[in-house]
Amino acid sequence: MSSSPDESAPLLDHTDDEQPVTKKRYRRALLGAGAILLLLAGGVIAMVIILTRKNSDRTSPYNEKRFFHDVVKMPNYCDHGSKGYSGYIGLATEDSLEPKRSFFLFSESELSPQDAPLVLTVGGGPGTSGQMRYWNGDGPCRLTETRAELNPYRWTKSFNYLSIDYPVGAGFSHGAIVNSSADAAKEMYDFIQKFYVLFPNMAKNQLVLNGGSYGGMYLPHMANEIVTQNDLQARKKGVPGARHVPLESIMISNPYSDPLSHAVNGVEMNCKKTNPPIWNSTQCEYAYQQLPAMTQYIRTALDIPTLPNKLQAAEFSGEIEEMDLHGVLREDYRKTCNIDQTGENVAPCLPFLARMQTFLRNHSEELGVPDEVVFQAISIEVNDRFWKNGDRQVDVTYRVGMVDLNCPWTGVLGGLLLSNINVAEDFKNAEDIPWPGEESEATVRVVGEGAGDFTYVQLWHAGHFVSYDMPRIEQKLVEHWIKNKPFGSD
Ligand SMILES: *[C@@H]1O[C@H](CO)[C@@H](O)[C@H](O)[C@H]1NC(C)=O
Ligand SMILES: *[C@@H]1O[C@H](CO)[C@@H](O)[C@H](O)[C@H]1NC(C)=O
Ligand SMILES: *[C@@H]1O[C@H](CO)[C@@H](O)[C@H](O)[C@H]1NC(C)=O
Repeated sequence: MSSSPDESAPLLDHTDDEQPVTKKRYRRALLGAGAILLLLAGGVIAMVIILTRKNSDRTSPYNEKRFFHDVVKMPNYCDHGSKGYSGYIGLATEDSLEPKRSFFLFSESELSPQDAPLVLTVGGGPGTSGQMRYWNGDGPCRLTETRAELNPYRWTKSFNYLSIDYPVGAGFSHGAIVNSSADAAKEMYDFIQKFYVLFPNMAKNQLVLNGGSYGGMYLPHMANEIVTQNDLQARKKGVPGARHVPLESIMISNPYSDPLSHAVNGVEMNCKKTNPPIWNSTQCEYAYQQLPAMTQYIRTALDIPTLPNKLQAAEFSGEIEEMDLHGVLREDYRKTCNIDQTGENVAPCLPFLARMQTFLRNHSEELGVPDEVVFQAISIEVNDRFWKNGDRQVDVTYRVGMVDLNCPWTGVLGGLLLSNINVAEDFKNAEDIPWPGEESEATVRVVGEGAGDFTYVQLWHAGHFVSYDMPRIEQKLVEHWIKNKPFGSD
């Protein structure tokens, strides 16, 4: 690593592949124990258990000597009350020719960090940095024009907060780029296990997955992977040395989850939900004309998910989605943006994005980032790969046992998204009630006790970047959700 030790006191030593001396001693000690146990009644069983455990330890990839990690203490940029770390974890598929490293920021809770729930946050995109919310709404500091200042609505007052530049290719993460949410989720599981090795106290704390936009694709895939691996691990068929991941719930804002309702609602939104409509009459007429064909292409892609089918659906719906917005900002229709609003081009219309990029490029060294790695707020390469692989036209099924999904959203929740979820009937019958005490700001629809098992929140004054637009409400939301307190209570 480029940073010198006094600038960035490493949390843990560098690793390499050498076999540590302690290993041999350990093995001999265990064999000794086995021989003694053999002499005792029931000793055989005890020995088998011990040898099995030893064996899994020997083959486990989740041993701090067996994966790359370089973590530094994070500077306290805004005089907040939590400890922070940043750095890299090497992922399973890295080899000596091409490192594959996932960058993260981890800020401990100001209150009892040892027991506080862990909120794991990723970005959208695909290809947007997972640090977006950290610096613009959720994290201990928020960036202004000129500096990082204390964020009064920081989630780190009572939660541990982990931001990951996900997948590799986004933000400061670097290495070979995957092209699907499913493959990215496998890498996330690997990351989480390794993170637990470096921060073992976090392994027992409630885990909450948090994200927005394309996170609506990422998070269900991650949850599926975690639930599947937990199940394998419980049956002793998981990755050797893997721990149970205590996933409790998911929070998603303005999700992209279901390609069909996304496409249909997009047309409705631009033609019917605003006054005046975003698209003009020619565009709306065209969009509605194309709707049956678009629906057909998407259904076909979901039913027969071959690459050509997925690409055809993506291109057809993409052409409509990207029609001229006449200078309205896609992420917030109250604002204007008079430039080509695709990919990185949109940065000038989203000043906080540009500010974050400048800040992070300027402070990369003290965050443990090598010289040659340049921060990418939005990685076009990641986006391109997911796009070319038709990842958007993938059916997301919420197979998470407990079905905890929290979804603050300004728009309409697609009916199809819900049809996959076993609370669908209850949810349809529930009402959106004004959030007590915040009547002019938000409504909540709750299925279940407390803050609900499945909860849908609409924030009236937020655009796509909910944390940035309404950080005060967002903080209340997370406090109620994670602690499962009814909305309106303190
Ligand atoms: C609607 O917008 C499109 C795209 O900007 C433009 O080409 C077309 O002339 C407009 N039609 C009307 C009726 O204004
Ligand atoms: C970059 O960081 C240095 C020192 O931390 C600071 O003096 C300078 O103003 C920063 N520049 C920008 C553009 O943030
Ligand atoms: C997706 O990535 C895999 C390798 O991970 C590659 O074999 C495949 O060709 C890629 N698909 C597309 C459409 O780029």
